[in-house]
Amino acid sequence: MSLQDKKIILAVTGSIAAYKTPQLVRSLVKAGAEVKVLMTAAAADFVTPLSLATVSKHPVLASVSDGANWNNHVALGLWADAMIIAPCSANTLGKLANGLCDNIVCAVYLSARCPVFIAPAMDEDMWIHKSTQQNISKVRSYGNHIIPVAHGELASGLVGEGRMAEPEDIAGHIAAYLSEENKPLKGIKALVTAGPTYERIDPVRFISNFSTGKMGIAIAEALADKGAQVTLVLGPSHERTYHAGINTIAVESAQQMYTAAVAAFKDAQIAVLAAAVADYRPQEQATEKIKKKEQDLTLALTKTTDILAALGKIKKPEQTLIGFALETNNELEHATEKLKNKNADLIVLNSLKDEGAGFGHDTNKVTFVSLHNTVSLPLQSKAAVAVAIADQIIELRHAEKTA
Ligand code: CTP
Repeated sequence: MSLQDKKIILAVTGSIAAYKTPQLVRSLVKAGAEVKVLMTAAAADFVTPLSLATVSKHPVLASVSDGANWNNHVALGLWADAMIIAPCSANTLGKLANGLCDNIVCAVYLSARCPVFIAPAMDEDMWIHKSTQQNISKVRSYGNHIIPVAHGELASGLVGEGRMAEPEDIAGHIAAYLSEENKPLKGIKALVTAGPTYERIDPVRFISNFSTGKMGIAIAEALADKGAQVTLVLGPSHERTYHAGINTIAVESAQQMYTAAVAAFKDAQIAVLAAAVADYRPQEQATEKIKKKEQDLTLALTKTTDILAALGKIKKPEQTLIGFALETNNELEHATEKLKNKNADLIVLNSLKDEGAGFGHDTNKVTFVSLHNTVSLPLQSKAAVAVAIADQIIELRHAEKTA
């Protein structure tokens, strides 16, 4: 693990796990980093500023001003290559999610332009509370990286989820992210489609589906984390990504998605089509609102262009094309058909029969279907599934090269 010459801000907040932060500073410094520590008033109940100042060899900042001086949080935010908020208490998480700024940690966080890593730590009941989970989704949607909590003994005496990741793991996570060697997709361009499409019926109505775009966005982020320059063609979705390696093109209809995808595919080496594209659109789009008249109303629909199949037709040997299949029955059979008919290199199969998989959930359970084999993955977070998909793409491209 190397963090040679990296500048890191460690922000410590009020959780019992703060007692582990001198060890975290040690690990970061041992790996070559320069570390400056900030802490909230509540953190000082669990670890002393003196311990942290001693191991980091820098004064610890606990306030936006120390009486005589104003601590320049903007300059600090610009200085760092990475900011770690560890442990991140439920209270601080709530502040980060909502843009509150009443202490040095929040002020530096809001000013930071570097990647921010958040290692939450709290009791299990607090961790699973809806508001905490919503705050986690929010801060993740702002482009921050969440270091997953661990399962184990908690300070309350209970056993469960919510423990802060171990200091060595946190340091390893940052080192992996910042390390150039961990960018196997550097120089590679990737296209990802995500989200639903809207097919307009008239000026106020449309046909769509329940896709949220979460899975596709997670894939775009996993590819960008590995160094790819990603074009994300995103249908109407409330989800966003602020990853520096991703350029988002917002589209509405299947036709717009097709046009944007074909354009981006021209100089992409990887394409992952995770969007839930409408298969049909209204044959005619009424220019005025359709008025309620007869008992029955029949809408004539016509097929949209299948983007995956279209890209499969123009695919060059050095391009890797990944499709999804969302099935409710005969899953493997249908996925294999899609693989062959659409000339994809891999189909990521979702079954709606699997609990916790598919639309809306933060988890997913997928099976990789290629011409060579079928691999089923366990139920895991969409972020973890996305990393597995990115790794599988790297493996496929490597196998292709060495074949
Ligand atoms: N797809 C696409 N363009 C379409 C329809 C689907 O690019 N107009 C892509 C999806 O993004 C996905 C794959 O094709 O990667 C499979 O989508 P799915 O909806 O499972 O399959 P369909 O081909 O639409 O077949 P069916 O709805 O009959 O299962």
